[in-house]
Amino acid sequence: MENNLENMVIPQHVALILDGNGRWAKKRGLPRTMGHKEGCVTVEKTVEIAARMGIRYLTVYGFSTENWKRSAEEVGALMQLFRFYMVRLLKIAKANNVRVKMIGERSRFDKDIVEGINRLERETKDNTGLTFVIAVNYGGRDEIVRAARKMAEDVKEGKLDPKDLTEASFASYLDTADMPDPDLLIRTSGELRLSNYLLWQLAYTELYVTDCLWPDFSKEELEKAIIAYNSRDRRFGGVKEK
Ligand code: IPE
Ligand code: IPE
Ligand code: MG
Repeated sequence: MENNLENMVIPQHVALILDGNGRWAKKRGLPRTMGHKEGCVTVEKTVEIAARMGIRYLTVYGFSTENWKRSAEEVGALMQLFRFYMVRLLKIAKANNVRVKMIGERSRFDKDIVEGINRLERETKDNTGLTFVIAVNYGGRDEIVRAARKMAEDVKEGKLDPKDLTEASFASYLDTADMPDPDLLIRTSGELRLSNYLLWQLAYTELYVTDCLWPDFSKEELEKAIIAYNSRDRRFGGVKEK
């Protein structure tokens, strides 16, 4: 156990909005893509740190359904980084007993990227440590609409009775089926919004925003967020008994 976290409850599921790569680069007079490259290094480090801390699920927002609006140059550079870091991630996952999963609508990516994603999931599926979830071409609204469409198809085919539509059965149609909801959401770079992230799953998640830009995120920053999480009083709509 890390010293700074002695007697602390480690959240089971931490969700991350890794924001600020562009601002990090701008501050240094570098192109935005250099910020993304440095951000990928920080993702690798964070996976290892989270695995060692005993976090069970780490879900990071890598590319949103809205990020396609960026310039062709930036989107292209991000795709190249995915290609490169997917290979490195496979090694890191194997070395750290990490299971990798992707959420989002992957069919919009080039074929080789889709194959890389499938391979990462396939070759790490039996690992028993941290589950590292990457949200790519992910949007909370898109996920909910895709789930509703699948459900409607099952009803049409007679596989599902609308009477059996419950919160739990609906959640089983989401990309995050079988995953617990996040306990803690960390957003870097100071923005106070969800940007279409895990809209269903964050219903009772504790929110933590830091001004730290993503490439500068570190073990100390993660510890600060976990310490803040430990000071929260989670009531889930109830009343806490004294
Ligand atoms: C987050 O950094 C990475 C992605 C959204 C892909 P940004 O690229 O959003 O960085 P800022 O917000 O412009 O600083
Ligand atoms: C959220 O960051 C998406 C990811 C981190 C992948 P954005 O930079 O896209 O969000 P906005 O535009 O500030 O809301
Ligand atoms: Mg941003």
